[in-house]
Amino acid sequence: MCTEIPTVEQIQETAKYIREKVGDFSPIVGMQLGTGSNEMGDHLDASPKPIIIPYSEIPHFPTCTVPGHSGELICGYVSGVPTICLKGRFHFYEGHTMQRATYPIRVLAMLGVKTLILTNAAGCLQKTWTLGDIVVLTDHLNFMGTNPLIGPNVDLFPPFSTRFPDMSNCYDASLRELAKKKGEELGLKLREGVYFAYSGPSFETGAEIHMMRVIGADCVGMSTVPEVIVARHCGMKCLAFSIMTDIAEADAHPCHEEIVEVGHKSSDSLINLLRHIIPKMVG
Ligand code: HPA
Repeated sequence: MCTEIPTVEQIQETAKYIREKVGDFSPIVGMQLGTGSNEMGDHLDASPKPIIIPYSEIPHFPTCTVPGHSGELICGYVSGVPTICLKGRFHFYEGHTMQRATYPIRVLAMLGVKTLILTNAAGCLQKTWTLGDIVVLTDHLNFMGTNPLIGPNVDLFPPFSTRFPDMSNCYDASLRELAKKKGEELGLKLREGVYFAYSGPSFETGAEIHMMRVIGADCVGMSTVPEVIVARHCGMKCLAFSIMTDIAEADAHPCHEEIVEVGHKSSDSLINLLRHIIPKMVG
């Protein structure tokens, strides 16, 4: 496990290593794929053939420990758009520092990625929603108890990478609009909601669920927010989707295996949506 704060030199070294592997591939879109929807990496355009780099071979990358997160960087095209997929994410609860868990996001920015799409599995707090619903995140509540930007400011992407970066519109309004419009055209009902992030790894208690609802959260999970904070600090636009994989209730007894299974059931619809919206994001 790496615990130190990443340096600019490390980020540059990692980006250089990836560039050497992928030749003239210049990614515009990045994807951080979460539990249940990480097969997107296997559904890139067949040609040109995607290049797969295991995280374990990438200098300064942390390594995944969670079942269902295999850990590969996939460089390919989605509907003709050069896209990098981070298949497998690093969580704070694994023992990575926030700064390390978000290291790949800085690398994507260094490689030229302008838009980051994130997916996750989340517990559903909205009583009228159902399992498998896909939610476009409109905002978040960071209850992780820390922040990935703590430490010396890495001012790599001015004017965005200031000491006190702006978090308004952190889930880009025009990208959300695009997702909603395409969803309607495809007959896919998308929800909109606020994501509550906490560190985990224990699931939330009944009292915590009550608090989350009272303060305005629609779904709950243990990821995504650190990456979004770092992505905004790097000037990337963000669009995030949560799949409702379990109903957050005092006596619900959520389990990881069921969460992965429910996530898989909605992943085809989400992947199809992404295929349609990615070409509209660029030009
Ligand atoms: N709580 C926290 N994280 C989660 C949940 C949940 O209910 N479901 C999927 N990830």
